[in-house]
Amino acid sequence: MDEIRMGMIGTGGIARGVHLPGIAAVGGARVVWAADADTARVASFARDFGIEKTATDYREMLADPGVQAVVSATPNNTHFEIASAALAAGKHVMLEKPVSMDHASARRLWEQAKAGGLVNMVAFTYRWHPGIAFLADLAKRGVFGKRRMFRAHYLGGFVTAESNFSWRMLKDVAGSGVIGDLGSHAIDWARFLCPEIAAVCGSVRTVIERHRDPRTGEARKVENDDAALLLLRFEDDSQGFIEVSRAATGHSEDQFIEITGNDGAARYDFRDLDTLEVCQGAVGLESKEFARIPIPQRLRYINGMYRRLPLGDPYVTFRFEQARAFIHAIRSGRPAKPDFYDGYRAQLVHDLALESANDGAWKTVPKE
Ligand SMILES: NC(=O)c1ccc[n+]([C@@H]2O[C@H](COP(=O)([O-])OP(=O)(O)OC[C@H]3O[C@@H](n4cnc5c(N)ncnc54)[C@H](O)[C@@H]3O)[C@@H](O)[C@H]2O)c1
Repeated sequence: MDEIRMGMIGTGGIARGVHLPGIAAVGGARVVWAADADTARVASFARDFGIEKTATDYREMLADPGVQAVVSATPNNTHFEIASAALAAGKHVMLEKPVSMDHASARRLWEQAKAGGLVNMVAFTYRWHPGIAFLADLAKRGVFGKRRMFRAHYLGGFVTAESNFSWRMLKDVAGSGVIGDLGSHAIDWARFLCPEIAAVCGSVRTVIERHRDPRTGEARKVENDDAALLLLRFEDDSQGFIEVSRAATGHSEDQFIEITGNDGAARYDFRDLDTLEVCQGAVGLESKEFARIPIPQRLRYINGMYRRLPLGDPYVTFRFEQARAFIHAIRSGRPAKPDFYDGYRAQLVHDLALESANDGAWKTVPKE
C-alpha cells in the first residue's frame, strides 16, 4: 500500500507535541494538509513540519480526495462536527477526547462510524503506557482473581491561582472542566481494565473560581469544574473510585491506578515506564507486600516503541504508539481500538457523573 496521506485539523499543543511527531516516527503515512482556524498558527505549523497545503477551514481539506485520514485535535465543542464531516467525506478519523459535548451526539458519531466502515479511533493515549498495557494484560489473564476494587487518580497541578484563563474553563467550548479533560482518560482506564461501569456517583467543585484573562487583564469567572470525584460500581458488582484535578497543589502530572482482587493486586504509576508494583502468589499475599515486576519485553516492544528509537522523551514517545495503531488499522483494513464506541461510553459515564453531581443520586449506566 502506498503511503497514507493525512490531514491534521487543529495545530495546537497536542498536534505539535504528539500527533505530528508520532505519525512522522511511525512511517507509512505522511501529513500533507494542516487546517487551523488561526491563520498564524497553521502557517507556522506547516513551516515547521514541511506541510504542503494549509487551510483555515478544515472542509477544504476534507474536499481533497487525496486525503485518506485525518486527526482532529481541536477544542471539544468542534469534535462532533469535524469528526462527523470527516466520516461523511470518507476519511478515517483519529479524534481527540472527549469525543463530543454530550453522550447523545457521541453515540450518533459511533453509529455513523459503524455504518461507514471507516477506521475510527479516540486518542485515549494512556492505553499505550507500558504500565497500563501490563495492567490490562494481568487483568485479562485473571491474575487478580475475583475483583474487589479499582482506585485511580489523575492529578495535575498545572492550574494555579496565577494561571491564565483558557478555553478549557469555558462551558460552551470545553463543556465540563477537568472531569471531561483528565477524567475522560481515567474513565477509559476503568473501562479498559475492568468490566463495564454499571453505576456512577459524581461530585465536582471549582476550587479556583477566577483566572486572569490574558486578553483583557481582567479576572474572569471559571465556568466549569477543576476537581472531581467519581464513585463507580462495575458489572461484576465490584466498586471503584476516581479522583481528578487540574488544580492539585503539589502535583505535576500524577497518574495512579490500583486494582485489588482476592488473589492479587497491582499498582501503576505514570512515572514508572519499566515496572509495575504487583502483589501476587503465596509469598506476596502472605507477606502483604508489593514487589516491583519488570514490564515484559513483549509489551514494552510491541506497545513501547519508545525503547527502540532515539525519539526523545520516553514519557512523550510512548504516546506515538497510538499513531502506529491508527495507521496499522488503515493499512490492514482492520478496526482500531479504542474506537468511537469507547469514546461514547466514556462520555456517557461522564455525563451521568455530572447529572449525579447535580442531584446527589447514583446513576445507572445503560448497557448500550
Ligand atoms: N489525548 C491526550 O492526552 C490529550 C492531551 C492534550 C489535549 N488533548 C485534547 O486535544 C484537543 C486540543 O487540545 P490542545 O491542548 O492541543 O489545544 P490548543 O488550544 O493548544 O489547540 C487547539 C487548536 O485548534 C484550533 N481550532 C479551534 N477551532 C478550530 C476549528 N473549528 N477548526 C480548526 N482548528 C480549530 C485552535 O486555533 C488551536 O490552534 C482537546 O480536545 C484536548 O482535550 C488530548
